Amino acid sequence: MSHTIAVIEGDGIGQEVIPAAVDVLESLDLDLEFVEGDAGDAVKEATGEALPQETYDLAADADATLFGAAGETAADVILPLRDAVDSFVNIRPAKAYPGVDAVRPETDLVFLRENTEGVYSGHEDDLSEDLSTLTRVVTTSASEKLAEFACEYVDDGEGFSVVHKANVMRKTDGRFRDAVVRVADEHGVDTDEVLMDAFATRVCLDPEQFDTIVCPNLAGDVLSDLAAGLVGGLGLLPSANIGDDNALFEPVHGTAPDIAGQGVANPMATVLSAAMLLNHLGYSEESDRVETAVETVLAEGPRTADLGGDADTEAVTQAIINEL
Ligand code: NAI
Ligand code: MG
Repeated sequence: MSHTIAVIEGDGIGQEVIPAAVDVLESLDLDLEFVEGDAGDAVKEATGEALPQETYDLAADADATLFGAAGETAADVILPLRDAVDSFVNIRPAKAYPGVDAVRPETDLVFLRENTEGVYSGHEDDLSEDLSTLTRVVTTSASEKLAEFACEYVDDGEGFSVVHKANVMRKTDGRFRDAVVRVADEHGVDTDEVLMDAFATRVCLDPEQFDTIVCPNLAGDVLSDLAAGLVGGLGLLPSANIGDDNALFEPVHGTAPDIAGQGVANPMATVLSAAMLLNHLGYSEESDRVETAVETVLAEGPRTADLGGDADTEAVTQAIINEL
């Protein structure tokens, strides 16, 4: 079966790491058709819009989207793009690969972050010169949907941790916690509960006590970045935004203006995002092969400067393709 992949490079190193990941996907000889769309600062400068309607439609209509990063306009691009693919969960693995100088080399975590509500629902107001407010939205339905996904995601017998702050935000995080735990119980999936502040300490001291973490939107954003710090940096972290019929894959990092244009960005976060894309489309064997190729290159191949090497983006990409 043929699949259409929307490819949106965006700004900065997005224009370097996305072509690298597309090269890796093309080397697999699958029936994938790539369609390109523009988004980001440069498009806004030229047209007044950071995310043109055609690009939104491209993502909405494709089987999957591969996105790089946008600069100043990041929020105007990525939030509507997540909406275009109707994404209810953001999957963020944080795994320390062998051979990488990680703060906690034993880290192997996956965050399943609620991707539609919480404090990111967009309900902010200035009520007076002195006062701004934010409405935090939590629904049982979105919490249950995330929990259903989490139950399918974890392997048989392996449970997940529910990270929240329901001791203080009793109604909103209380609703989230109750819904997630109830769905897990119905599926016979074990859960343990950890308050999000305590989680931040415990994951730094001993990441091995956690595997899959299910959490509200902002907690997932912050705690997954914290975990990124444990595993050796942003150049290696992929992510997936999953919807019912669609999905978008992107590195966790941004446009890296300090190194953009030099051809030295680490393509691995985006290549690993492409591996998640393959898995999502049913190419699980190819997905495993791509991840293994990245692992092999990390262990014994060329490296970019962020990992202490002096290879450029192209050399690392070619090394990954050679391993395939
Ligand atoms: P950043 O992730 O772009 O860069 C942080 C640091 O990590 C920099 O020193 C950079 O060189 C390094 N780095 C990041 N990715 C790398 C890679 N693949 N290889 C080697 N080194 C890498 O975050 P920063 O500097 O906070 O943001 C820069 C711009 O990116 C901002 O305009 C921000 O709005 C945007 N951004 C966009 C995102 C998106 O579109 N999803 C996400 C995060 C930031
Ligand atoms: Mg973030």
